[in-house]
Amino acid sequence: MSRSAFLGGNPVREKSIPWISTMGKEETDAVVSVMESGTLSAFLAKSGDKFLGGSMVKELERAFCERFNAKNAITVNSATTALHVAVAACGIGPGDEVLVSPYTMVATASSVLMNCAVPVFVDVDPDTYTMDPSKIEQWISPRTKAIITVNIFGLPSNLPEIMEIAKKHNLYVIEDNAQAPGATVNGVESGTIADIGVFSLNYHKIIHSGEGGVLLTNNDTLARNCQLIRNHGEVVLDEEGDMDTIALGSNLRMSELHAAIGIEQLKKLDAFLESRRRLAKKISDGLVERQGLKGVTIPHGYTHSYYIYPIKYDANIWGIDRQTFAKAMQKEGFPLGVGYVKPIYLMNIYKHKHVFNKTTYPFAFIDEPIQDYKKGICPIVEKLYFEQLLTADICRIPFTERDIDDFFEAIDKIWEERFEIAKVVIEE
Ligand SMILES: Cc1ncc(COP(=O)(O)O)c(C=O)c1O
Repeated sequence: MSRSAFLGGNPVREKSIPWISTMGKEETDAVVSVMESGTLSAFLAKSGDKFLGGSMVKELERAFCERFNAKNAITVNSATTALHVAVAACGIGPGDEVLVSPYTMVATASSVLMNCAVPVFVDVDPDTYTMDPSKIEQWISPRTKAIITVNIFGLPSNLPEIMEIAKKHNLYVIEDNAQAPGATVNGVESGTIADIGVFSLNYHKIIHSGEGGVLLTNNDTLARNCQLIRNHGEVVLDEEGDMDTIALGSNLRMSELHAAIGIEQLKKLDAFLESRRRLAKKISDGLVERQGLKGVTIPHGYTHSYYIYPIKYDANIWGIDRQTFAKAMQKEGFPLGVGYVKPIYLMNIYKHKHVFNKTTYPFAFIDEPIQDYKKGICPIVEKLYFEQLLTADICRIPFTERDIDDFFEAIDKIWEERFEIAKVVIEE
């Protein structure tokens, strides 16, 4: 075996594999067709058919309902927006608390603050990295209104148990499914199991339209609320003489151009997933044969969509710290993410409780908060972030099985020279 690049040998890959666009002729033709039609958006903030947007937006919503077997789909301009809309549609506001996974992209928790409610963080399961149902009830207070669980890296949360707990305490459940389109729990699509599911179409997701988001719900009232919030709903309610406005609306609409791209990308989702799952299986099989690196754990009856492949690293077995291992892999041409994202409650905005122009609202709406945002409240997430987790973005197009062989060649080179590498690090 050749010498590792960390110790001056030739890298397995001179250059890491670039990000490439999954846009094809179909997407280009769809955009050109919308351009030629001249109708780049057909939304109007007034009652009537145009309140719900133009033909591409409606077609994308229909296609989402069909593909994921959901009753209602509502497109918006991002998943961040969709999360905000979902929280507002559930009638959540000042003085309310929402249980949230702390191991996620920051938008999941921000959606709660944006509605002037307060997030309460629930630790994750050490093997699946999704919200641990056994940790939920300790954080429920009389103010708790909902749970936002995140289908992180592409694996659905333990939704059967979470839904059961929510039912017992009369809470809404929102699934942040931005990373897991096409994953399933006992044959049911993730993003359709909770009261509302949220999908992302941003440019680095499995399917995308540059930017975009979609909400799915089987609850007609929630669907209507989402539509109102998306498009200045207070105007429509006023016109219709409805005095019971549920929330302030805004312009959160998707353009016809983005919807047209989304329609074509959605047609390709299953082919993209097939390729991701094939590569992921090869990674999982390879990791089982190696020490100190643990691949994904998939509960019985679940499928994964492998937005990212998470790997648990054991520095005690390797004898080199996680950062050094990641650096050695990068030198071989395989950059890895270290830790994923910081547990959200450790971010400054939560530490200092300065959200809106440095006032202490929405925290000040609550006299005796159930949670203090201190280090230690979610020990599993902290261990994952500070010590254990590595993320590999190697299931995406254009990675191939040959690339996965190279990935393991890089790992094996580092393993063979780990004691020498450890010595170099100590001497540095
Ligand atoms: C879990 C999760 N939630 C929400 C978002 C926000 O998505 P968007 O960029 O479409 O607003 C992301 C995006 O990275 C995400 O990964």
